[in-house]
Amino acid sequence: MKIDYCSDLHLDNALSGGPHGWLGGIDISGWKAGGEILVVTGDTAEHVEDMVDFLNETAKQYHHVVAVLGNHENGSTKKSIRENVHVLDWCPNLVTDIEGVRFIGACLSPDDAVQAAAIASAFSDEADAVVGLSHYPPTRQIAAVLGRDVSGACASLLDDYEIRIGKPTTWICGHLHLEFDTVIHGVRIASNPRGYRARRRDGSSWSGFRCIEVGR
Ligand SMILES: [Fe+2]
Ligand SMILES: [Fe+2]
Repeated sequence: MKIDYCSDLHLDNALSGGPHGWLGGIDISGWKAGGEILVVTGDTAEHVEDMVDFLNETAKQYHHVVAVLGNHENGSTKKSIRENVHVLDWCPNLVTDIEGVRFIGACLSPDDAVQAAAIASAFSDEADAVVGLSHYPPTRQIAAVLGRDVSGACASLLDDYEIRIGKPTTWICGHLHLEFDTVIHGVRIASNPRGYRARRRDGSSWSGFRCIEVGR
């Protein structure tokens, strides 16, 4: 399965927060990277209503869109969500299974021990592949990899839990506004943030979705 992924699109950055009602009109065709599934790991917009607009519209160009909430996504929505859009924070047990691949995740704030325990308990060895998703990185060891003091902005799920059965093969996260693709605790952990106005924290520019292959 090929997965396009991104985070921290911050499509309405510099605005004071929605709902604005126009994020569904954003043209993503130039961002696509060849995956049939799109993963969006949080901070898409300032309001969940705008996030849902964007995910619903983007899902017309993918088999499925799987997302988690970021710390910026505030408010609530009564909008209907397309059947091929899966916001894991709102899914039973924080899980959705798609074509033999199990996606597990949520925002995973560093101080949310309950959510960390729920994610850890959702891992299964029955799927072809298990993909973890979170807005906050799932390990504090990312700080050493990046050479930056970011551990306070990271959760410690992969540090705290011995996930031997159904170990995630891949983890996609966001929040730091830094791009990386590394292996920690035997798990490939990747982040492809757009950042505020398409600029990351290290000054690099965002060029679109990245693609990763999991499972068969
Ligand atoms: Fe962000
Ligand atoms: Fe964030």
